Amino acid sequence: MIRVSAPHITEDDIEAVVGVLRSGMLAFGRVGEEFEKQLARYLGVKHVVTVSNGTAALYLSLKALGVSQGDEVVVPDFTFFATASTALLAGATPVLVDIELETYTIDPDQLHEAISGKTKVVVPVHLYGHPADMDRVTEIASEKHLHVLEDCAQALGAEIRGRKVGSFGHAAAFSFYPTKSITTGEGGAVATDLDSVADVVRLLRNHGQKSRYYHVEIGWNMRITDVQAALGLSQLKRLDEMNEKRRKLARVYLEELASVSQVRLPIEKPGVKHVYNLFTIWVEGDGTRDKLAKYLRDRGVEIAIHYPTPLHKQPALAGAKKSSSCCPNSDAASRHVLSLPLHPGLSESDVVTVAKLVKSFFSELP
Ligand SMILES: Cc1ncc(COP(=O)(O)O)c(C=O)c1O
Repeated sequence: MIRVSAPHITEDDIEAVVGVLRSGMLAFGRVGEEFEKQLARYLGVKHVVTVSNGTAALYLSLKALGVSQGDEVVVPDFTFFATASTALLAGATPVLVDIELETYTIDPDQLHEAISGKTKVVVPVHLYGHPADMDRVTEIASEKHLHVLEDCAQALGAEIRGRKVGSFGHAAAFSFYPTKSITTGEGGAVATDLDSVADVVRLLRNHGQKSRYYHVEIGWNMRITDVQAALGLSQLKRLDEMNEKRRKLARVYLEELASVSQVRLPIEKPGVKHVYNLFTIWVEGDGTRDKLAKYLRDRGVEIAIHYPTPLHKQPALAGAKKSSSCCPNSDAASRHVLSLPLHPGLSESDVVTVAKLVKSFFSELP
């Protein structure tokens, strides 16, 4: 079986985790703080605050940006559920906006219409590892005096003109789930240059404790452990290498599949660095995507659909608001996209095998 995504774990990672286990100091502490420091340096931001997962990172960022009851948060309609559910959890209403089909990221042309007097935050998502159009998103947001929260769950290491995503908004949320660029099992982080945001996230992830057993707010326990942080710290050392491997494998797919007219391949816009957290293709034709998915699965290739249901069709998000042009592109993407296997543990010949199967599927198609 060729897996669609998989964590890349080395002996060094294992030793780092075992080292913490042997130390007997398992909860968040010195190793977690070091992980935060190294990650902040990597991203080029002032603060990184680790939290229990990417969902917590989004939620605590919204709280720290002052989102509360009655506010609106603009999010793309085509993303993982948590981008929007966290707005609802913070008491706000998510406003769903369509995506552009070239990159599957939020369409800045739709923002003006989606922004109202109640809007507090815009959340661009760097989906699949390709940066959203941050120039236009930040320009419109600053015109309207809104905060920008980058959802970087799938894009650690991605860049715009040599600058890392996560350093453009007022805050950014990262995930270290096992399918992401680096993993801590479960884990996440908020990156920000703003002292005020970092302070609130630090406070709320730890029961609102200002000092030991002295609570100034109602918070949560959303800390990661030093066991997790040790894995993150060890993985961070190899992040650029792992992203380069992803980019190399992506180039193999791009070359192998260039001649397949029924498939639209991912693009990398000029000036940006795509980190291919997912290698997601668009399959032309009615129902052809699902036939290709079955064909590949039957031949030992795991695939995934990111995502089969756009947010405006999610029963749990019935409380969300759709912008008036929501969301033909997102609807179409949910019917046509297919993620092929891509992770640093794959070899070039694995990728060639998958690409050959894709080609043979289309050559056998009546
Ligand atoms: C775009 C996006 N946002 C948020 C999240 C939530 O991260 P986590 O699973 O760590 O809570 C994910 C994770 O899949 C994601 O892909």
